[in-house]
Amino acid sequence: MCGIVGYIGKNNALPILMDGLKRLEYRGYDSAGVAVKTDQGVFAVKAVGKIVELEKKITPLTPPLSGGSNLGIAHTRWATHGAPSEVNAHPHCDCQRKIWLAHNGIIENYQELKALLIKKGHKFVSETDTEVVAHLLEDLYDGNLTNTLIKALRLLKGAYGLVIFHAAEPTKLLAAKCGSPLVIGLTEDGTIVASDVSAIIRYTKQVIYLDDNEVAEISGHDFKIYNLQSETVAKQAKTIDWDIEASEKAGFPHFMLKEIFDQPNSLANSLRGRIILSDGKVKLGGLDIVAEKVRAIEKLVIAACGTARHAGLIGEYMIEEYAGLSTEVDYASEFRYRQPVLDKKTALLVISQSGETADTLAAVQEAKGKGLLTLGIVNVVGSSIARATDAGVYNHIGPEISVASTKAFTSQAAILALLTVMLGRQRQMSLVMGERICRELLALPEKMREILKTSEQIKKIAEKYSKFAHFAYLGRKYNQPLAFEGALKLKEISYLHAEGFASGEMKHGPIAMIDGNFPVVMIAPQDSVYEKNYSNMQELKARGAKIIAITTAGNEKIKEAADDVIYIPKTLEMLTPILAAMPLQLFAYHLAALSGRDVDKPRNLAKSVTVE
Ligand code: AGP
Repeated sequence: MCGIVGYIGKNNALPILMDGLKRLEYRGYDSAGVAVKTDQGVFAVKAVGKIVELEKKITPLTPPLSGGSNLGIAHTRWATHGAPSEVNAHPHCDCQRKIWLAHNGIIENYQELKALLIKKGHKFVSETDTEVVAHLLEDLYDGNLTNTLIKALRLLKGAYGLVIFHAAEPTKLLAAKCGSPLVIGLTEDGTIVASDVSAIIRYTKQVIYLDDNEVAEISGHDFKIYNLQSETVAKQAKTIDWDIEASEKAGFPHFMLKEIFDQPNSLANSLRGRIILSDGKVKLGGLDIVAEKVRAIEKLVIAACGTARHAGLIGEYMIEEYAGLSTEVDYASEFRYRQPVLDKKTALLVISQSGETADTLAAVQEAKGKGLLTLGIVNVVGSSIARATDAGVYNHIGPEISVASTKAFTSQAAILALLTVMLGRQRQMSLVMGERICRELLALPEKMREILKTSEQIKKIAEKYSKFAHFAYLGRKYNQPLAFEGALKLKEISYLHAEGFASGEMKHGPIAMIDGNFPVVMIAPQDSVYEKNYSNMQELKARGAKIIAITTAGNEKIKEAADDVIYIPKTLEMLTPILAAMPLQLFAYHLAALSGRDVDKPRNLAKSVTVE
């Protein structure tokens, strides 16, 4: 997830672009850049780090900027392809430095296109997927950037929000969308295009949302919108009723809720371009260089902390059941103290959203010291863990801002499912099974949308239970780690006492605590262990427990044992935790928000824990 902004109009573009970038900084902040058309040509500047670093490099009062500019684009980057560096920062341009563009998304077929364009003599300077679009436009350019762009877009696969200008057509700013958001703000004096309204709202509340496969051709305050068949599309402007603060959160009261609601998109981004359905296979580009070593391993140790470790526990079940590879999960903070028995046929897989968690990094170093292959599932490109591991897979979910991890968790579990298919297909998994898991993975975003519709119902349940001080979370098999995750979510943002247990463990001690004042959240989808979970619910009911059950849509019978029921759509058993996580996140969120907690920044916690 990156932030893009473009401006064309009567005013000076640069201050509008810089202000827009600052408002979009929450979308990504490893590097930034701006390109404006001036009387003396295109002025472009880029910097690594936050927007202030870019600002330091701009002197608006000296030429070429002193003459002002009415056209420009800017970008704040969240790296996906290529490390955060000046050369990889946007805007990118063609060989002649005339076509400039900023991009949010992932061009899936950039390698094929790049190879083709290199053969034709184009010179690439960055490692990004984005640069290919600039050279493709240069290659196809027919004197009209709009027609050329429509032709080029027909060749692209993947997701994009693009803002583009050509120095030879300075009365035109183009925008194109597929998968990544773009909104056009209409003012008296000009037009602003941005990734979201936070970059626009200071200037206007009149906006047009571009839909997928649409191209906007903007000249001052006139605009035309085309589809990819070059037909014009009529669009109505909408009036936004948010204020500046709410706009960064897309109208949500907290980043946590925004990130929970972002999951259908973020999960789709994690899967994008990684599934070859017809072969029942996955393509994890970051693991290509170690594919043969991975084929040879006989054991996998997963090390991670907190929520990332809970995802790892789900991965353990997946990999052992479907790939037949012995897997164990460690607390990263314990990995080097317990003297694990490791040999060269073992690989260490670490999971970390931030890529900076000190304990997880220490586990990587420990394993490297012992000569093990080290792999990572990391969200932040170029982070310490991403650099320290031998190879890995990025989440591609954009920055997670709320301290409580939500969209990273579902993405981590989904990537572990992809890894299961990769490991399985290298071993005994059939094409049919590989295809089945992949098909079910691709269906998850839509099912997540269904779950989000229950947010208000979950809020009412949270209200009902808001006076209780203790909660138990129970789950079995794939959903046992989810019991720990559900409890962690609640305790970290509500400060209430919550504990996760394997359902079968209750009768070995914890059930002694249970009475009418200790509600139980039971994760019980209709899977291979449902009957056992149902018996556990009855045991709890007999002791006066109040039960909130999460189960599969259509399961009416569970109402005989549960006080409140939240339904999730049916999926493959191994993928149920990805769906069941969402009601748990929403329950924790609503309960904490109702109690007036500082949901995004809970006390005593930090987003990345860089000390041991
Ligand atoms: C989860 O909500 C937490 N904030 C925390 O457990 C987190 O998952 C843990 O600190 C690991 O962080 P990482 O993924 O950035 O390594």
